[in-house]
Amino acid sequence: MTDTSPRTALIIGASRNLGLGLAREFAQRGWKVVGTVRGASRTGLHDLADTSEGQVAVEEVDITVVESVEQLRERFAEASFDLLFVNAGITDPDKPASEVETEVFTRVMVTNALAPLRVIETLAPLVKPEGTMGVMSSRQGSISMNERGGHEVYRASKSALNQLMRSYDARRDDKRTLLLIHPGWVQTELGGEGAPLTVEQSVPGIVSTLEAHAGDGGLQFRSYADETVAW
Ligand SMILES: NC(=O)c1ccc[n+]([C@@H]2O[C@H](COP(=O)([O-])OP(=O)(O)OC[C@H]3O[C@@H](n4cnc5c(N)ncnc54)[C@H](OP(=O)(O)O)[C@@H]3O)[C@@H](O)[C@H]2O)c1
Repeated sequence: MTDTSPRTALIIGASRNLGLGLAREFAQRGWKVVGTVRGASRTGLHDLADTSEGQVAVEEVDITVVESVEQLRERFAEASFDLLFVNAGITDPDKPASEVETEVFTRVMVTNALAPLRVIETLAPLVKPEGTMGVMSSRQGSISMNERGGHEVYRASKSALNQLMRSYDARRDDKRTLLLIHPGWVQTELGGEGAPLTVEQSVPGIVSTLEAHAGDGGLQFRSYADETVAW
């Protein structure tokens, strides 16, 4: 018998910009979406959920708080998502790394590298055995393509994320597909006003890439245009 139930996605960090755009695009494509915000403030995700007739739901998690991620897992203990996607991330002050305060360095590294890896490992049991787990990386995390420097700590955090995901892939024993995604340079608070792409131009490509590689297994680093990104 063919399974006609809608596919399901859990999107971590969906309050605004790329994460909110992903929640909206998946819902438009017929997926059921749980998106997360942090804190109690009202966000664009709440507005989307209110008009979605039950297709989009809002949950709370701060990816840097281990207990918060564990509580999310417990709330969804019976769930079986087709996709888990960790979008949450922060930028850096764009100074040479040696000038960045240690506390800021730690915050960027924990938020962009350690926390997404922990979310993937903690929430993997909520994803179907042959489902997909993705994390928003960046071309700036590519070591081989770094010829211009800049945003040194942010770059290092995305390189660390990629490396941690490779180590996780090497030691895990399951068939889920792992994808690191470069969304392009996108106009958001993080990307800045000068970015060439809008959220609306980036997000459909990200969703198509995630859909296209469902069932592949292994780990790939791909762009929103579904191109391979060099490590
Ligand atoms: N924009 C670009 O050009 C670009 C390029 C390459 C990669 N990326 C990556 O794409 C992702 C989204 O970027 P964006 O441009 O949409 O950034 P953004 O507008 O700054 O949004 C960041 C999102 O991450 C959430 N977040 C941050 N820290 C979190 C935490 N500790 N726990 C839970 N959620 C947290 C934010 O929630 P709040 O609303 O609560 O702050 C928000 O939903 C990031 O991983 C970023 O590194 C962006």
